[in-house]
Amino acid sequence: MLKKSIVDALNRQVNREFYSAYLYLAMSAYCESANMKGFAKWLNVQAKEEQSHGNKIYDYILAAGGTVHLAAIEAPQQSWPSMLALFEEVYAHEQKVSGMIHDLIVTARKETDFATEDLLMWFAKEQVEEEANALEIVEKIKALGDITGHLFWMDHQMGKRE
Ligand code: FEO
Repeated sequence: MLKKSIVDALNRQVNREFYSAYLYLAMSAYCESANMKGFAKWLNVQAKEEQSHGNKIYDYILAAGGTVHLAAIEAPQQSWPSMLALFEEVYAHEQKVSGMIHDLIVTARKETDFATEDLLMWFAKEQVEEEANALEIVEKIKALGDITGHLFWMDHQMGKRE
């Protein structure tokens, strides 16, 4: 049986994962409207991945006998000044999520909840990949100079994500 402090912390993280999905969906919609369909597709796939993260914690809470509490999801920003600014925000957001996961691991350790710690270690490793992917895109956009013509080439590459 999960302790209340753990259930509360996990429910908060479910909310943050679905907020991440919402944020990336808003970014995807913005890219569509800016005619950057490849970036839009990449972000849409990312939004689905975030939903699956939320569902993974949701399923765990239920399987471990806890109560799922779905709180309101904060509205994300709707537009960005440039593709570079947008992906810098993706990177900053993923760094923030990594911090949340690390705090959760500390909580699980304090409560000697090894099963929850094991679940969270999967997320900690996933965050290494998520941060690296976002940083790679930021660095590529910087190298291209955030120039529309160059970005269209990158947009084409980004659209290959399945
Ligand atoms: Fe589920 Fe990108 O953190």
